Amino acid sequence: MGCPDWPKCFGKWVPPTEVTELPFNYRQIYLEKRQKKVEKFCKFLSAIGMKETANKIKNDPEVYVEEAFNPARTWTEYLNRLVGFLAGNALLICFLWMLFRYRKSGLVGIAFLNLIILGVEAWFGSIVVATNLVPWTITLHMFLALVIVAIQMYVLYKVSPVQSRKLSFDKTMRWMIYIVLGITFYQMFLGTQVRESIDLLTKQGFGRDTWTDKLGMAFYIHRSFSWLVLGLLAYMAFHNEKSEKHFAVRLAFIVLAIELTSGVLLAYADMPGLVQTSHLIFASLLFGILWMTSLRIKRINR
Ligand code: HEM
Repeated sequence: MGCPDWPKCFGKWVPPTEVTELPFNYRQIYLEKRQKKVEKFCKFLSAIGMKETANKIKNDPEVYVEEAFNPARTWTEYLNRLVGFLAGNALLICFLWMLFRYRKSGLVGIAFLNLIILGVEAWFGSIVVATNLVPWTITLHMFLALVIVAIQMYVLYKVSPVQSRKLSFDKTMRWMIYIVLGITFYQMFLGTQVRESIDLLTKQGFGRDTWTDKLGMAFYIHRSFSWLVLGLLAYMAFHNEKSEKHFAVRLAFIVLAIELTSGVLLAYADMPGLVQTSHLIFASLLFGILWMTSLRIKRINR
């Protein structure tokens, strides 16, 4: 874990770079703070009827492991928070702008809803930290981020002169876009299940070189579903080249090719860390392109 507390990092707005800047018993101090937060979160889970999950978290010894200070991790995590802070401010500006320019449309409500979801996401980020990266919390955190992006893209589609331009597709292509979007979303969910298995293997002490052999069913389904996405998108790309030549379809195909390459590298080259990151980024990009394309579809009876 990069920063044991939230929103500050080791109690500071500018995190330390050397362990000597921390009190000698920093691990004990931050463990106690996290314990309190975990207790509060578990109470909340119990209150909303998730007693079993609360008990699981409370009794998981991994939650109470306090890692030694690691400057690279600390700063990576802190940069993530700073970017999140910028995104929050951008959404706030967007909301104010909607209030000013689009007061009479439903966009004000949508922009406000996105602000609220971002607030929940920030709070949940603190839970991911407090519970020491419990795998399902990472997954939920990621999906909430996708929801925020999807809503923001909808706002963009409504207000941008370029993005609100409709794209015409025939009936088969229209259906295929929705289907590929749905499968890609499900594929992302399967991918997070694979990552959760890897998190478990890491905790059990297995190294990168052994992960692929030990991954279960989720990995094989994830890998096989990629063929389905590839087949459908290849058909769409082929059809697109013969007709409308939409940039969005071309881009989706290129991003999918990169995504598949990164997936194969993950599976057969011992999962290099940077490729793990790229795999997630390109999956999100693919989802974003397909989502925006589905919004821009022109509904005609052809
Ligand atoms: C449409 C194509 C694909 C999509 C949209 C996709 C999406 C994803 C996502 C969202 C994750 C979770 C990342 C995270 O939570 O950090 C993931 C993980 C993973 N994917 Fe894929 N994937 C695709 C294709 C493939 C292929 C073809 C392979 C291998 C043959 C593959 C292997 C993996 C592996 C090994 C992981 C776990 C890596 C980790 O821990 O980050 N994926 N995928």
